[in-house]
Amino acid sequence: MTSASKVPLITLNDGTKIPQLGFGVYQIERNETYKYVSKALDVGYSHIDTAQSYANEKEVGKAVRDYNKYVFVTTKYFNPNASEHGYENAKAYFRKSFKTLGLDHIDLYLIHFPVIKNEVYVDAWKAFVELQKTEKLRSIGVSNFTTTYLKKIIDETGVTPSVNQVECHPYLQQNELRKFHEEHGIVTESWSPLGRGDVLDDKILKQIGKKHNKTAAQVVLRWHIQIGNVTFPKSVNTERIEENFDIFDFSLSEEEMESIKKLDKNERNGPDPAEFQFPDDFLEKRQQESQADQ
Ligand SMILES: NC(=O)c1ccc[n+]([C@@H]2O[C@H](COP(=O)([O-])OP(=O)(O)OC[C@H]3O[C@@H](n4cnc5c(N)ncnc54)[C@H](OP(=O)(O)O)[C@@H]3O)[C@@H](O)[C@H]2O)c1
Repeated sequence: MTSASKVPLITLNDGTKIPQLGFGVYQIERNETYKYVSKALDVGYSHIDTAQSYANEKEVGKAVRDYNKYVFVTTKYFNPNASEHGYENAKAYFRKSFKTLGLDHIDLYLIHFPVIKNEVYVDAWKAFVELQKTEKLRSIGVSNFTTTYLKKIIDETGVTPSVNQVECHPYLQQNELRKFHEEHGIVTESWSPLGRGDVLDDKILKQIGKKHNKTAAQVVLRWHIQIGNVTFPKSVNTERIEENFDIFDFSLSEEEMESIKKLDKNERNGPDPAEFQFPDDFLEKRQQESQADQ
């Protein structure tokens, strides 16, 4: 078992401290979530990234409660239907997630994806600002926001999100967005830190790993830590859960960081929030599909 104290903490703009490395649970089946979150906590992870739309908050909450030590938990608000998304709905969804997780507070609550129609993401952010004051919620932030959407919510409320969680890995380094974050005191969180596995065959990353006796995945995660991002790789493989945590006994040289910098090719796995919107009936359709699967 590795000590959790190896994971650096980053202080958010509201004073909350967040462990720089966490465990992501997107696409972990509900009936396997308890097992893998418990495994991650045993290994030493002290930060779990879930979302209402991952449909595994209940199991995350149970694993965290059973662990009996403080764990930083993030969840997210997702409703792409513009006529529903907004102020009241954001508050109602927070209370739902809070109940489902069954924890005494939530550390970080994020707007999962900006809903642009009628600028309802601004209304959702106004609700988040109030939730932080009135509910058992430590920090508030956003996900998949571009600089345009960030500027808009900051201008409208005077409140800067503590984090922006965006797709980020060596093939999509988000340099401009990260610069904006830095200038505004927003912490960058990297989702799909391993590019969902796509970056792991990279020759350069493998070569660097060989020098340190580490895998390409470990090199990539170490790179996220050294550029100052928070990240949370997902895995349902117990050896990889351990491997992904074992990144605090080496560091990448300036030269190695420089060669990883050159791998950027602005290549996304997920949707580009500057162009993409989920259809209004996305949640409804997904629910129907999951019922049909059962
Ligand atoms: N805010 C958002 O919109 C958003 C979007 C996507 C993701 N996220 C968050 O980010 C987390 C991570 O992103 P992600 O799941 O998309 O991608 P990821 O963590 O980059 O990659 C996960 C994939 O890599 C494999 N993998 C993990 N560790 C490995 C290793 N050491 N060696 C080789 N393969 C490895 C996993 O397979 P195995 O499971 O088989 O090991 C899985 O197929 C999510 O769980 C979620 O918390 C947020």
